[in-house]
Amino acid sequence: MIASDTGRCPLPIPMGWFQVLFSSDLEAGDAIPLHYFGKELVAFRTESGAAQVVDAYCPHMGAHLGYGIRDNAGKGPRVVGESLECPFHGWQWNGQGQCTHIPYAKNNPPRVAKGESILGAWEVREVNQQILVWYHPNKEAPTWEPESIEEALIRNTEWTDFDRHEWEIHAHMQEIGENGVDGAHFHFVHGTSELPETEIQSFDGYKRHAKFVTRQPTPRGVVDGAIETRSYGTGLSVVRFSGIYDTILLANITPVEREISHAMYAFIQPKATADTLGKTVGQAIIANICQQMEEDQIIWQRKQYFERPLLCDGDGPFAKFRRWYDQFLVEAQ
Ligand code: FES
Ligand SMILES: [Fe+2]
Repeated sequence: MIASDTGRCPLPIPMGWFQVLFSSDLEAGDAIPLHYFGKELVAFRTESGAAQVVDAYCPHMGAHLGYGIRDNAGKGPRVVGESLECPFHGWQWNGQGQCTHIPYAKNNPPRVAKGESILGAWEVREVNQQILVWYHPNKEAPTWEPESIEEALIRNTEWTDFDRHEWEIHAHMQEIGENGVDGAHFHFVHGTSELPETEIQSFDGYKRHAKFVTRQPTPRGVVDGAIETRSYGTGLSVVRFSGIYDTILLANITPVEREISHAMYAFIQPKATADTLGKTVGQAIIANICQQMEEDQIIWQRKQYFERPLLCDGDGPFAKFRRWYDQFLVEAQ
């Protein structure tokens, strides 16, 4: 048992697309060590601008490819053209896991000469200013493609830049996901006066769509609003808040270990009112959601996962949610 396995939840790491970085964290020529899915990885951006993610250990003699040496000490390793240079003996590896150069070999090893993919290489997509990878415990190919939204395109000038918030949460991903169908906790954990009313709660393949209608008290009376969530697998969600002030939250969660999850939240709001209403109401909405994350963690980090919880008729559709989630919980073979 590894240290992070507290035994509070027996479920495996889910498969699917997961965010590992924000695009702006990785400029051309950058390389960064990562730890997700219980593995050591390295992300790098080639000189032509492609984001790549590979396994961390160099197939030559096992050096970690994520840490530079000499001029690059304390930073990432060198990126040379489309490849990453190993700090130990200078072998170069591209994003497909091929060895592209051995600086001192007269004859390349056969697997190198054949252009075999030797180093583990990950499927990478860049959407919504995020770098995503496909994780499957048995290395099966992607079965769907992540979607981008218009509002989060880098060239979209109508929406603000990302307001980012991140948390490392000591809980299995599913415990965090269940929050989305748990209407009853809002009052007790977050102090909201009314339970949100469910208008849509649908599960379709790898997608989930939920819409809650809300009635928010304001100094100028009650404002009708909505919280609409679209999830793509277990790791990627887009949440749209409307009513008092339009807010879009890209709410992504990535497994670090089985029972450690990294939440990466990015908020965007309309640019036209960013300096007026955005400064007051807009900021208050973001602060409130972040506070809810802090509150939820007090529960998540200590709770035990029950396969058969004792539910009542007022509880949300946990069984449906778990059936949907189950498709992503593939046991490693
Ligand atoms: S261990 Fe990477 S080049 Fe030798
Ligand atoms: Fe919550």
